[in-house]
Amino acid sequence: MSSTQPQEPHRTALVTGATSGIGLEFARQLAAQGRHLILVARDRDRLAAVAQELEGGYAIHTESIVADLLDEDGQAAVQARIESHVDPVELLVNNAGYGLVHSFAENDWEHERDHWRIHTEVPLRLSHAALVAMRERGGGRIVNVASVAAFTPRGTYSAAKLAMVNFSKWATLHHAEHGIVVTALCPGFTRTEFHERMGQDTKAFPRLAWLKAEDVVRQGLADSASGKSLSVPSLRYKAAKVAAAVLPARTVERLVRRS
Ligand SMILES: NC(=O)c1ccc[n+]([C@@H]2O[C@H](COP(=O)([O-])OP(=O)(O)OC[C@H]3O[C@@H](n4cnc5c(N)ncnc54)[C@H](OP(=O)(O)O)[C@@H]3O)[C@@H](O)[C@H]2O)c1
Repeated sequence: MSSTQPQEPHRTALVTGATSGIGLEFARQLAAQGRHLILVARDRDRLAAVAQELEGGYAIHTESIVADLLDEDGQAAVQARIESHVDPVELLVNNAGYGLVHSFAENDWEHERDHWRIHTEVPLRLSHAALVAMRERGGGRIVNVASVAAFTPRGTYSAAKLAMVNFSKWATLHHAEHGIVVTALCPGFTRTEFHERMGQDTKAFPRLAWLKAEDVVRQGLADSASGKSLSVPSLRYKAAKVAAAVLPARTVERLVRRS
Protein backbone atom coordinates (compact mmCIF):
# COMPACT_ATOMS: atom_id res chain seq x y z
CA MET A 1 0.00 0.00 0.00
CA SER A 2 1.35 3.43 -0.78
CA SER A 3 0.06 6.84 0.26
CA THR A 4 -1.33 9.20 -2.37
CA GLN A 5 -2.73 11.55 0.26
CA PRO A 6 -1.04 14.84 1.13
CA GLN A 7 1.34 14.78 4.09
CA GLU A 8 0.18 17.04 6.92
CA PRO A 9 2.21 19.14 9.34
CA HIS A 10 0.65 17.60 12.47
CA ARG A 11 2.37 14.26 12.78
CA THR A 12 1.08 12.11 15.62
CA ALA A 13 -2.59 11.20 16.01
CA LEU A 14 -4.42 9.37 18.79
CA VAL A 15 -7.63 7.49 17.91
CA THR A 16 -9.95 6.00 20.53
CA GLY A 17 -11.97 2.98 19.44
CA ALA A 18 -9.42 2.23 16.71
CA THR A 19 -10.17 -1.50 16.36
CA SER A 20 -13.44 -1.28 14.42
CA GLY A 21 -15.71 0.79 12.21
CA ILE A 22 -15.18 4.54 12.04
CA GLY A 23 -12.16 4.52 14.40
CA LEU A 24 -10.39 1.83 12.38
CA GLU A 25 -11.04 3.82 9.22
CA PHE A 26 -9.59 6.95 10.87
CA ALA A 27 -6.49 4.93 11.74
CA ARG A 28 -6.16 3.69 8.16
CA GLN A 29 -6.63 7.10 6.52
CA LEU A 30 -4.30 8.82 8.99
CA ALA A 31 -1.67 6.13 8.41
CA ALA A 32 -2.01 6.79 4.69
CA GLN A 33 -1.20 10.45 5.43
CA GLY A 34 2.03 9.28 7.04
CA ARG A 35 1.05 10.01 10.63
CA HIS A 36 2.32 8.05 13.57
CA LEU A 37 -0.58 6.59 15.51
CA ILE A 38 -1.60 5.88 19.07
CA LEU A 39 -4.39 3.30 18.99
CA VAL A 40 -6.77 2.92 21.93
CA ALA A 41 -9.38 0.20 22.60
CA ARG A 42 -10.11 -2.63 25.05
CA ASP A 43 -9.35 -5.65 22.86
CA ARG A 44 -5.59 -6.32 23.00
CA ASP A 45 -5.55 -8.86 20.13
CA ARG A 46 -7.51 -6.64 17.77
CA LEU A 47 -5.26 -3.68 18.61
CA ALA A 48 -2.20 -5.79 17.80
CA ALA A 49 -3.73 -6.85 14.47
CA VAL A 50 -4.50 -3.21 13.52
CA ALA A 51 -0.99 -2.10 14.52
CA GLN A 52 0.52 -4.89 12.41
CA GLU A 53 -1.64 -4.00 9.40
CA LEU A 54 -0.75 -0.31 9.55
CA GLU A 55 2.96 -0.68 10.25
CA GLY A 56 3.17 -3.27 7.47
CA GLY A 57 1.37 -1.05 4.98
CA TYR A 58 2.79 2.38 5.68
CA ALA A 59 6.08 3.89 6.84
CA ILE A 60 4.71 4.78 10.26
CA HIS A 61 5.05 3.55 13.81
CA THR A 62 2.18 2.83 16.18
CA GLU A 63 1.69 2.68 19.93
CA SER A 64 -1.20 0.78 21.45
CA ILE A 65 -2.95 1.57 24.71
CA VAL A 66 -5.20 -1.23 25.91
CA ALA A 67 -7.76 0.71 27.92
CA ASP A 68 -11.36 0.54 28.97
CA LEU A 69 -12.24 4.21 28.78
CA LEU A 70 -14.96 3.72 31.38
CA ASP A 71 -12.27 2.85 33.96
CA GLU A 72 -10.32 5.51 35.79
CA ASP A 73 -7.03 3.71 35.02
CA GLY A 74 -7.88 3.53 31.31
CA GLN A 75 -8.83 7.20 31.08
CA ALA A 76 -5.75 8.23 33.07
CA ALA A 77 -3.39 6.25 30.81
CA VAL A 78 -4.75 7.93 27.68
CA GLN A 79 -4.76 11.35 29.34
CA ALA A 80 -1.11 10.89 30.35
CA ARG A 81 -0.15 10.03 26.75
CA ILE A 82 -1.92 13.15 25.47
CA GLU A 83 -0.05 15.27 28.04
CA SER A 84 3.35 13.84 27.07
CA HIS A 85 5.81 16.15 25.33
CA VAL A 86 7.47 13.19 23.59
CA ASP A 87 5.97 12.71 20.10
CA PRO A 88 3.13 15.05 21.08
CA VAL A 89 -0.42 14.26 20.02
CA GLU A 90 -1.28 16.78 17.35
CA LEU A 91 -4.59 15.24 16.28
CA LEU A 92 -6.98 13.62 18.76
CA VAL A 93 -9.93 11.59 17.49
CA ASN A 94 -12.51 10.98 20.22
CA ASN A 95 -14.42 8.15 18.61
CA ALA A 96 -14.99 5.21 21.03
CA GLY A 97 -18.67 4.68 21.73
CA TYR A 98 -21.67 2.40 21.60
CA GLY A 99 -25.46 2.54 21.67
CA LEU A 100 -28.06 1.19 24.07
CA VAL A 101 -30.86 -1.08 22.89
CA HIS A 102 -33.60 0.20 25.18
CA SER A 103 -34.73 3.71 25.99
CA PHE A 104 -33.93 5.72 29.12
CA ALA A 105 -36.49 4.51 31.68
CA GLU A 106 -36.19 0.89 30.46
CA ASN A 107 -32.43 0.76 31.09
CA ASP A 108 -30.65 0.25 34.41
CA TRP A 109 -29.26 3.51 35.72
CA GLU A 110 -25.70 2.08 35.60
CA HIS A 111 -25.97 1.38 31.86
CA GLU A 112 -27.34 4.86 31.19
CA ARG A 113 -24.62 6.46 33.32
CA ASP A 114 -21.80 4.59 31.51
CA HIS A 115 -23.30 5.35 28.11
CA TRP A 116 -23.45 9.06 29.02
CA ARG A 117 -19.85 8.93 30.29
CA ILE A 118 -18.40 7.26 27.18
CA HIS A 119 -20.05 9.88 24.93
CA THR A 120 -19.42 13.00 27.06
CA GLU A 121 -17.11 12.63 30.08
CA VAL A 122 -14.46 10.64 28.18
CA PRO A 123 -14.18 12.93 25.11
CA LEU A 124 -14.31 16.02 27.36
CA ARG A 125 -11.56 14.75 29.65
CA LEU A 126 -9.31 13.85 26.70
CA SER A 127 -10.16 17.15 24.95
CA HIS A 128 -9.22 19.03 28.10
CA ALA A 129 -5.79 17.37 28.22
CA ALA A 130 -5.31 17.97 24.49
CA LEU A 131 -6.39 21.63 24.55
CA VAL A 132 -4.00 22.48 27.40
CA ALA A 133 -1.09 20.82 25.52
CA MET A 134 -2.08 22.21 22.10
CA ARG A 135 -2.37 25.77 23.46
CA GLU A 136 1.18 25.50 24.81
CA ARG A 137 2.44 24.26 21.45
CA GLY A 138 0.41 26.74 19.41
CA GLY A 139 -1.81 24.37 17.41
CA GLY A 140 -3.52 21.05 16.92
CA ARG A 141 -6.80 19.44 16.00
CA ILE A 142 -9.51 17.41 17.71
CA VAL A 143 -12.27 15.45 15.99
CA ASN A 144 -15.20 14.47 18.20
CA VAL A 145 -17.25 11.75 16.54
CA ALA A 146 -20.81 12.85 17.33
CA SER A 147 -23.85 11.89 15.22
CA VAL A 148 -26.55 13.34 13.02
CA ALA A 149 -28.83 12.11 15.84
CA ALA A 150 -27.71 15.29 17.67
CA PHE A 151 -30.16 17.29 15.54
CA THR A 152 -33.34 15.43 16.59
CA PRO A 153 -34.71 14.44 20.02
CA ARG A 154 -33.74 10.76 20.17
CA GLY A 155 -33.03 9.82 23.78
CA THR A 156 -29.84 10.20 25.75
CA TYR A 157 -27.69 9.20 22.74
CA SER A 158 -28.77 12.29 20.80
CA ALA A 159 -28.55 14.47 23.93
CA ALA A 160 -24.95 13.36 24.53
CA LYS A 161 -23.99 13.87 20.89
CA LEU A 162 -25.57 17.36 20.87
CA ALA A 163 -23.44 18.24 23.90
CA MET A 164 -20.32 17.35 21.88
CA VAL A 165 -21.55 19.34 18.86
CA ASN A 166 -21.99 22.49 20.94
CA PHE A 167 -18.73 21.92 22.81
CA SER A 168 -16.82 21.51 19.53
CA LYS A 169 -18.33 24.65 18.00
CA TRP A 170 -17.49 26.67 21.11
CA ALA A 171 -13.99 25.19 21.45
CA THR A 172 -13.11 26.13 17.87
CA LEU A 173 -14.34 29.70 18.33
CA HIS A 174 -12.52 30.03 21.63
CA HIS A 175 -9.20 28.48 20.56
CA ALA A 176 -8.92 29.73 16.98
CA GLU A 177 -6.26 32.24 18.02
CA HIS A 178 -4.15 29.30 19.26
CA GLY A 179 -4.33 27.54 15.88
CA ILE A 180 -6.67 24.84 17.21
CA VAL A 181 -9.68 23.37 15.40
CA VAL A 182 -12.25 21.14 17.14
CA THR A 183 -14.65 19.41 14.75
CA ALA A 184 -17.84 17.53 15.59
CA LEU A 185 -18.22 14.80 12.96
CA CYS A 186 -21.92 13.91 12.61
CA PRO A 187 -22.47 10.77 10.54
CA GLY A 188 -25.82 9.16 9.86
CA PHE A 189 -26.18 5.35 9.76
CA THR A 190 -22.74 3.98 8.96
CA ARG A 191 -21.85 0.36 8.29
CA THR A 192 -19.70 -0.67 11.27
CA GLU A 193 -20.15 -3.05 14.23
CA PHE A 194 -22.21 -0.42 16.10
CA HIS A 195 -25.69 -1.84 15.38
CA GLU A 196 -24.51 -5.46 15.49
CA ARG A 197 -23.09 -4.90 19.00
CA MET A 198 -26.55 -3.61 20.00
CA GLY A 199 -28.09 -6.79 18.61
CA GLN A 200 -30.10 -4.81 16.05
CA ASP A 201 -31.27 -6.40 12.83
CA THR A 202 -30.25 -3.80 10.25
CA LYS A 203 -32.00 -5.50 7.32
CA ALA A 204 -35.09 -3.41 7.98
CA PHE A 205 -33.16 -0.13 7.60
CA PRO A 206 -33.48 1.43 4.13
CA ARG A 207 -30.40 0.84 1.97
CA LEU A 208 -30.20 4.53 1.08
CA ALA A 209 -29.72 5.45 4.73
CA TRP A 210 -26.31 3.77 4.95
CA LEU A 211 -22.95 5.48 4.64
CA LYS A 212 -19.54 3.88 4.27
CA ALA A 213 -17.06 4.52 7.09
CA GLU A 214 -14.48 5.35 4.42
CA ASP A 215 -16.57 8.27 3.08
CA VAL A 216 -17.52 9.49 6.56
CA VAL A 217 -13.89 9.67 7.67
CA ARG A 218 -12.65 11.23 4.43
CA GLN A 219 -15.20 14.03 4.79
CA GLY A 220 -14.48 14.46 8.51
CA LEU A 221 -10.74 14.78 7.96
CA ALA A 222 -11.22 17.20 5.06
CA ASP A 223 -13.57 19.41 7.12
CA SER A 224 -11.23 19.33 10.11
CA ALA A 225 -8.25 20.25 7.89
CA SER A 226 -10.19 23.20 6.47
CA GLY A 227 -11.02 24.52 9.94
CA LYS A 228 -14.71 23.56 10.19
CA SER A 229 -16.22 22.91 13.60
CA LEU A 230 -19.11 20.85 12.17
CA SER A 231 -18.95 18.07 9.59
CA VAL A 232 -22.06 16.31 8.31
CA PRO A 233 -21.02 13.74 5.67
CA SER A 234 -23.25 13.22 2.60
CA LEU A 235 -25.89 15.37 0.94
CA ARG A 236 -28.66 13.13 2.31
CA TYR A 237 -27.77 13.82 5.90
CA LYS A 238 -27.00 17.49 5.29
CA ALA A 239 -30.55 17.77 3.92
CA ALA A 240 -31.95 15.85 6.92
CA LYS A 241 -30.19 18.27 9.29
CA VAL A 242 -31.69 21.27 7.47
CA ALA A 243 -35.13 19.64 7.48
CA ALA A 244 -34.92 19.01 11.24
CA ALA A 245 -34.17 22.71 11.74
CA VAL A 246 -36.85 24.19 9.47
CA LEU A 247 -39.78 21.78 9.77
CA PRO A 248 -42.33 22.55 12.49
CA ALA A 249 -41.37 20.92 15.80
CA ARG A 250 -44.59 18.84 15.79
CA THR A 251 -43.72 17.36 12.38
CA VAL A 252 -40.19 16.47 13.51
CA GLU A 253 -41.57 14.88 16.69
CA ARG A 254 -44.06 12.83 14.66
CA LEU A 255 -41.31 11.61 12.31
CA VAL A 256 -39.03 10.73 15.23
CA ARG A 257 -41.83 8.86 17.00
CA ARG A 258 -42.59 6.88 13.84
CA SER A 259 -38.91 5.92 13.33
N1 LIG B 1 -22.24 3.39 13.05
C1 LIG B 1 -23.11 4.38 13.05
O1 LIG B 1 -24.21 4.30 12.42
C2 LIG B 1 -22.77 5.67 13.76
C3 LIG B 1 -23.49 6.84 13.40
C4 LIG B 1 -23.19 8.03 14.04
C5 LIG B 1 -22.20 8.08 15.01
N2 LIG B 1 -21.53 6.94 15.35
C6 LIG B 1 -20.49 7.05 16.40
O2 LIG B 1 -19.26 6.59 15.87
C7 LIG B 1 -18.40 6.17 16.93
C8 LIG B 1 -17.74 4.85 16.56
O3 LIG B 1 -18.75 3.85 16.42
P1 LIG B 1 -18.70 2.73 15.28
O4 LIG B 1 -19.96 2.87 14.52
O5 LIG B 1 -17.42 2.74 14.56
O6 LIG B 1 -18.86 1.42 16.22
P2 LIG B 1 -17.99 0.09 16.36
O7 LIG B 1 -17.66 -0.48 15.02
O8 LIG B 1 -18.75 -0.75 17.32
O9 LIG B 1 -16.62 0.60 17.05
C9 LIG B 1 -16.59 1.06 18.37
C10 LIG B 1 -15.15 1.19 18.86
O10 LIG B 1 -15.15 1.75 20.18
C11 LIG B 1 -14.37 0.91 21.04
N3 LIG B 1 -14.92 1.00 22.39
C12 LIG B 1 -16.21 0.78 22.78
N4 LIG B 1 -16.33 0.91 24.10
C13 LIG B 1 -15.10 1.22 24.58
C14 LIG B 1 -14.57 1.45 25.88
N5 LIG B 1 -15.34 1.39 26.98
N6 LIG B 1 -13.27 1.75 26.01
C15 LIG B 1 -12.46 1.79 24.92
N7 LIG B 1 -12.90 1.58 23.66
C16 LIG B 1 -14.20 1.29 23.50
C17 LIG B 1 -14.44 -0.49 20.41
O11 LIG B 1 -13.30 -1.28 20.70
P3 LIG B 1 -13.20 -2.41 21.84
O12 LIG B 1 -14.52 -3.16 21.87
O13 LIG B 1 -12.02 -3.23 21.47
O14 LIG B 1 -12.93 -1.65 23.10
C18 LIG B 1 -14.41 -0.14 18.92
O15 LIG B 1 -13.08 0.04 18.49
C19 LIG B 1 -19.30 6.11 18.20
O16 LIG B 1 -19.02 7.23 19.01
C20 LIG B 1 -20.72 6.19 17.64
O17 LIG B 1 -21.60 6.78 18.56
C21 LIG B 1 -21.79 5.74 14.75
